[in-house]
Amino acid sequence: MQTYEELVSQCGGDILSSPGMRSSIFYLQHGKVSVYDHSFSVAVMCLKLAHKIKLKTDETVLVRGALLHDYYLYDWHVSDRSHKWHGFTHPKKALQNAKRDFRVGEIEENMILCHMFPLTLSLPKYRESVILCVADKICAIQEITEDRKEKIKGRYRQ
Ligand SMILES: [Fe+2]
Ligand SMILES: [Fe+2]
Repeated sequence: MQTYEELVSQCGGDILSSPGMRSSIFYLQHGKVSVYDHSFSVAVMCLKLAHKIKLKTDETVLVRGALLHDYYLYDWHVSDRSHKWHGFTHPKKALQNAKRDFRVGEIEENMILCHMFPLTLSLPKYRESVILCVADKICAIQEITEDRKEKIKGRYRQ
């Protein structure tokens, strides 16, 4: 049987190997986790959640929307006026870039635009969008917690 990771690579191989996505290896998302790795983990988490709750979804759409949800292509840690409201504005930027570089359908569009709900008030309209919203938050919490643990371990080592 195919692993979730293999399914992500199969449904989103062209996205993962694209120059835009590959550039996100160099942008940090949470702690030491790159945007590339975060996006991959979120896509895997989306598939896991959908299978766990036995929700029928279009897996290709689910994976592709998840891989592109943070396709904003800049380092939000760098202080720059255009990144000031990153939390609120990056879904729109990600969608703009995604539409420029890939074919993006209606469901993927809603997934990308609404993944920060309820911070942004755009409502998730599809089950794939709701799954992404939850998966993104689970991965973010895991990444932040892992980073905190590493920092605490580092403190005790000194
Ligand atoms: Fe995001
Ligand atoms: Fe995210």
